[in-house]
Order: sequence, then structure tokens, then C-alpha cells
Amino acid sequence: LRELAILSGMPPEMQLPVSQPTLPPFEEYAVLMKEIFASRMLTNDRWVRELEAQAAAYIGCREVVALANATSGLVLVPKVLGLTGEACLPTFTFPATLHAILWNGMKPRLVDSDPETFNIDPSALEAALTSGAKTVLPVYIFGNSPDWARLTPLIEKRDLVFISDAAHALGSRWEGRMAGMFGKAEIFSLAPTKVTVAGEGGLVATNDQALARELRIARNYGNPGNYDCVIAGLNARLSEFHALLAHLCLARTEEAVDRRHALVSRYRSALEGLPGCSFQKIDPRCRSTYNYFAVLIESDRFGLTNAELHDALEAEGIQSKIYFAPPLHRQTRFTHLFEGQGPFPGAEQVLSRVLCLPLYQHMEDAVVDRIVEIVRACHARAGEVREATRRKRIGRSVEEVVSSVLGRPVDRAKAGALDLRDLGLGSLRMIQLLSELEERFSIKVRDEQVTGENFGTLDRLVRFVEAQAGKGKP
Ligand SMILES: Cc1ncc(COP(=O)(O)O)c(C=O)c1O
Repeated sequence: LRELAILSGMPPEMQLPVSQPTLPPFEEYAVLMKEIFASRMLTNDRWVRELEAQAAAYIGCREVVALANATSGLVLVPKVLGLTGEACLPTFTFPATLHAILWNGMKPRLVDSDPETFNIDPSALEAALTSGAKTVLPVYIFGNSPDWARLTPLIEKRDLVFISDAAHALGSRWEGRMAGMFGKAEIFSLAPTKVTVAGEGGLVATNDQALARELRIARNYGNPGNYDCVIAGLNARLSEFHALLAHLCLARTEEAVDRRHALVSRYRSALEGLPGCSFQKIDPRCRSTYNYFAVLIESDRFGLTNAELHDALEAEGIQSKIYFAPPLHRQTRFTHLFEGQGPFPGAEQVLSRVLCLPLYQHMEDAVVDRIVEIVRACHARAGEVREATRRKRIGRSVEEVVSSVLGRPVDRAKAGALDLRDLGLGSLRMIQLLSELEERFSIKVRDEQVTGENFGTLDRLVRFVEAQAGKGKP
């Protein structure tokens, strides 16, 4: 292994996204796309019907309705069912789960998550349900099934409607049954970060044929055919081009999930035993799609936090993600909706440790080995890496403040050696810059130190803040 990029300042060796769609051979798509052109039927036609039938057969459910994306499915299912009142959902999820509730004028009630599986905590859900909520939106976090053995009995016991956000879970199984077979309806995403992709697209799986029939109307403005609309629908149709791509990808979903399992085993056995590094717990009754591969980083033992490891990997050109941050209860615009709800210690525990590493089915084994080697090296030199990532964060932050004061982006790599005045920082702006730096870093900057000769360049300003910030709060 060459020196870590975060320590040496060397440019990255590679650029690896955290996820990337795996596509069928272009020729296979092109031949069939030609037929779409010839037919001039661009939406909601043959390939949409084919995809729906193929997905229903794959899942084993009665009906699948194809939509423009999963979000429209999450919005339309409660709409068609006429649901009102409170809906329970985990705080640790993607924002679209919440948006679906808000678009339906329902009231969200957040539920804590299991810190190991990341899924909705069944006991916390039971406690939340005492408020009278009749709707529950469990989420398959990264493809891991919610605990259906504990959730399913609640449906009858309390007369609930379960609608799953199964965006990550096309191909997941629970005790051998496919995701798509639980609750009232389960909604999958075919967006580019998913295992099976359409470009943009979504699928609603249900055994309720009336629901499916009404969804097909609702996705078409609510127009049953005579423009005498029966519901305030959406245009949520899936185009033929997207349906065709999804059809070709779905034929390969099983193979894709198998390949992801092989890659995850490789990651796990190579990372096993690394102090402070563990994994999302997949219930043994579940076969996850591993839409994301999540490690848990315990900073005391690993030597770095998940955020610090993220920054060190970024310097290597390896994208990783702290998903889903911020959780719903910390979404700036929505916190007022959750007054009196919480705390959510399980979700917070996940967030302080989780890091999703690159995974896609066309990834080569050697790439996993390389990522593991770098993660191990980060642990081995944790002290130095921590200091370097701290400096990098401060540098980035100072850059951000300077950019906002100037009203244009400033890149330290390009402008670092330039005099601050040459960047356009006259005395008024300099005063504004100083007070913003003081606030952001909880430091005290004396005017003469900044405006005087002792640091006239952006690089020197960054070094000054680094030294000051080191004296106070980390
Ligand atoms: C858990 C979850 N739910 C819902 C969605 C929304 O899916 P779509 O982009 O297809 O609307 C996503 C998107 O990534 C997601 O991760």
C-alpha cells in the first residue's frame, strides 16, 4: 500500500462511487427500444404491462402496479385507501417516507430504530401505537426486512394498515417469502442507486386487486378513461423506455443479489476482527438485497469516527455515505412536527457509527480488497489520520466561509497562495469574515492578527484557524 492520500496529500488513485447501476448489454436494450420507436407508444403500454406481470410473478403476489418512482407510490397508496390520522414511521429513513405522509395531510409519529438491524423497533412501535395511529410505514433499511414475525400479528390485533417503504428491497426475502407479500402494499424503487433499475421508476406490490385497479387510475391523473376524475391523482406513469430497462434488469435481479452477497462476504471476512468495526445485523430469517453495505465504526476502538473514516476514504477517491443523515427528527424544516416525540437513542446510535461502503454487482473482487486495505491502514494510523481529517474539515469550512462572504466559490487548492485582498476581501468583508469564523469555530480572532502581515493568504488563514480551533473545542 502506498502512503494514505489523506496523509501524503497525494491525489486519489481511483474514483469509486458508493453505488452505481448495473445495466444489461446495450444491444439487448437497443433492439427492443427500436420496437418502442416503431410503435410510437411511449408510455403506459406493452412494456409497462410486461414489467407488471413479470414483477408479480417474481414476487408471487397478485398485482404489481408500475409507477414513475417509489415516492409517487408512497403518496398514492394512502391516498387511494383514503387513510387519515396518524401514521407511524421510523425516524431513521429516507425523507420520502415522511413526505408521503405529509402529502396525504396525515400526522407523522416517529418511532425509534433497532441499533443493530437499523429497522423499526417493534417494541417502540407498539408504544407509539397507543396514540391511536392506524397506519404504519415500516422501511426495509438497505434491504434488511423489518421483523415481520413481530409486526404481522399487530396488524390484526390492532386493525392496522401496513404500507412498506421497500425502496431498497426488490429481491429481499423473509423466511423464504419475497418482499412484496407483507402488509397491505409494499413499494419498491427502481432509481439508479437500486439493485434493479429503470432509470426512474417504482413498483407497488399488493394482493388487493381493488387497490391495484384504483392505483392504475390514480397514476393517470385519477382519470378512469372518461376524464370524469374519481380521485385527485398524479401523473405518475412509467414510460415505456424505463419499463423496458427495468424488465431487462429484473430478469437479472436474483443473480445480482447473489453477487452482492458474495461481495459482502468478501468484505466481511476481510474486515472481521478489525477493532471497532462491525456490520449491520441482518436477521437470519432475512435474505437482504444489500442495497447498501453498512459497517459500524466504534470510534473508541477503531480510532476514528465514521465521519473521519469517510473523509479519509474521500481523499482516496472512495465515496462512502453516512445514510440516512440527518434523520427525520433532525430535518430542519420539519422538527416542529415532532414536538414531544423522541428521544431516539437507537437511531442516534446507528447514525454515530454507520458508514456505507461502495457496493454494486459489477464490482470486481480486487476493488473490495483494495477498499479493505485502505480501511485497515486508516485504523493502523488512526492518530495521524484523525488529525489530517480534522485539518481537512477546517480547511473546507474556512473555504466555505470565505466563499459565502465573497458570494462566489473559492477553491483553496487554486487560490490558497493568493493574498486575501487579491481575492476581493476589502476591510468591510474582512470584518464580516472574522466574525463568521469566530462564530463557526468558537474561537477568538484579533483583528490585527488577520489583517496584518502575519497571514495574508488563504492558506495562512486556514493554518491560523487550525491552530486556534485546536486550543478550544475540537
Ligand atoms: C428508503 C427510500 N424510500 C424511498 C425512496 C424514494 O424512491 P424514488 O427515488 O424511486 O422515489 C428512496 C430513494 O432512494 C429510499 O431510499
